[in-house]
Amino acid sequence: MQISRALSVTLHDYEPQAGDMRAEVLAGLTTNPKTLPCKYFYDERGSELFDAICELPEYYLTRTELAIMQSHAAEMATVLGSRGLLVEPGSGTSTKTRLLLDKLHWPCAYVPVDISREHLIKAADQLNRHYPDLEVLPVCADFSQAFALPAPHHPAARSVIYFPGSTIGNFEPDATVALLKQLLRLAGRKGALLIGVDLNKDRTLLEAAYNDAAGVTAAFNLNLLARLNRELHSDFNLKRFQHRALYNPAEGRIEMRLVSLDEQTVHIADESVHFRAGEAIVTEYSYKHTLPGFAALAAQAGWNVQKVWTDDRRWFSVQYLTAG
Ligand code: AVJ
Repeated sequence: MQISRALSVTLHDYEPQAGDMRAEVLAGLTTNPKTLPCKYFYDERGSELFDAICELPEYYLTRTELAIMQSHAAEMATVLGSRGLLVEPGSGTSTKTRLLLDKLHWPCAYVPVDISREHLIKAADQLNRHYPDLEVLPVCADFSQAFALPAPHHPAARSVIYFPGSTIGNFEPDATVALLKQLLRLAGRKGALLIGVDLNKDRTLLEAAYNDAAGVTAAFNLNLLARLNRELHSDFNLKRFQHRALYNPAEGRIEMRLVSLDEQTVHIADESVHFRAGEAIVTEYSYKHTLPGFAALAAQAGWNVQKVWTDDRRWFSVQYLTAG
């Protein structure tokens, strides 16, 4: 781990490795069906495209979660208590965090954790300027791996993990339990979790959210291949792959794929990867939970759901969990 100054903040850098990326990508492209890890969507361009997705009329998630935060942030602040170390895995632009920070009672420090270094530094720097009394301690890491929390200047009463945006939806049930366990270890015995969980709903609404008319989600999905071309020197032809997103009701998840339009061979780090016409790469799962279903997964990880806030249509939830 490296500690350095970056803009106005001190960065704790676990240097998530490009070498890991090559190995994970090759592993995914040699399984049947082919897969790619969705965490690699978020390079500079991918993060920009994701921010654009959040503004789309069809993409109800961000808007609905923001409305829930707006209506209930004060009550959330009360249950979270004072002098907490607020930790946010996959912090992105920290937009929702601002709503919470504005209401929190004396948070002792804010720890944004993100794999995308440039995005993280910029967001942390902006927050630092906007909240001069708040200690901002960014950590560059892959939050699915173990890492240590930086020590704040003033000792914290407890750690509160803020995990908004339905990021948890990317994980399959077993991995959800594993990640929730990992977050429990990070938060500690007195810890708490405030998590945004997308809920199951009509498939037309779900599929529209992942097949937007403007094609931003398609560009976001294809950018993954552009990134591999740039960073791993592969030769994916983006014109020969097509974005597809379908709801799988049996699994309760949106499945995003990149479908090969014809038979083709792609070269990547001394390997050749063959595609049949119509063969797909699974790039992302986005689970849509039920309230009891999510509570059961959380319980398996040792968390108790204490409070659930939703919108009137019950499209999205923000949930407060405590350890034990
Ligand atoms: C960031 C994982 C919540 O699953 O809705 C958006 C990512 N993918 N459009 C989601 C995403 C396509 C998003 N999460």
